[in-house]
Amino acid sequence: MKGIILAGGTATRLFPATQAISKQILPVYDKPMIYYPLSTLMLAGIREVLVISTPRDLPQFRELLGDGSALGMRFEYSVQDKPRGLADAFLVGEAFIAKDSVALVLGDNIFYGQGFSAMLERAASLVTGATIFGYPVKDARAYGVVEFDASGKVLSIEEKPANPKSNYAVPGLYFYDREVVEIARSVKPSARGEIEITSVNNEYLRRKALQVELFGRGFAWLDTGNPGDLLEAANFVETVQRRQGLYIACIEEIAFHKGWIDRARLLSTASTMKTEYGEYLSFIAENKGP
Ligand code: TTP
Repeated sequence: MKGIILAGGTATRLFPATQAISKQILPVYDKPMIYYPLSTLMLAGIREVLVISTPRDLPQFRELLGDGSALGMRFEYSVQDKPRGLADAFLVGEAFIAKDSVALVLGDNIFYGQGFSAMLERAASLVTGATIFGYPVKDARAYGVVEFDASGKVLSIEEKPANPKSNYAVPGLYFYDREVVEIARSVKPSARGEIEITSVNNEYLRRKALQVELFGRGFAWLDTGNPGDLLEAANFVETVQRRQGLYIACIEEIAFHKGWIDRARLLSTASTMKTEYGEYLSFIAENKGP
């Protein structure tokens, strides 16, 4: 399976902070935002990743992440010239996806919680169909929302409903088989002019090929779309890291534990950073951790 990080958009809700820079380059506490969705793909075992961003911002992602060899991975980069919608990722990424299955993660989505790796590995092993997730939120109106019948069967996904039929929002992490490119191509733009991922998900549902996995209450899915959310996410990361001494979304640590890079490579990256993050990499190199 391949992975796509969609890291474009205009981030108007963060203006003026994002007037000249991508939201996904901004730090969430101690590391660039894009490290978080990248770590999600890595935990799913995905080593080939396409980063999609705007013509203005793509060079910065390339500078930050390079060709992926520092992580034992392979990165490609593609421009999305306009924010045409989330499902546009599959059209921009068509050549990259080729005949593989693919996971899409939004560049501003942060996930953290026990059992997440196992959930990801399960989703990434799909051969046919699609897996998406449901997460309980207080106010689901800003999201795609899952509608269930009394027996828990999924009836529909509604995009930004005024009256949500459940409090289960669909987070920005989706796993699809190779049909997704054709499905995305056939989706008609919505009233707001975007190719909606919700339309793709409803097509999988119509084909009886959509799996919706629900996250429990002990799991964190954080938003970073406005200044308050961004600060809350940073505080969350700082709290967990300080208390446990274990890092959220340390991409080099994940690569090392997966055996994609060796100790020498990890230490060489550590030596370039005279920060707590760099010290953490040295600590991981010396103690394999729990
Ligand atoms: P949004 O939060 O919908 O959009 P945005 O980030 O531009 O923010 P704002 O509402 O403040 O203007 O996008 C969610 C994520 O998906 C975000 O990481 C940007 C990305 N995205 C794209 O890369 N291309 C797109 O076509 C769309 C719609 C979003």
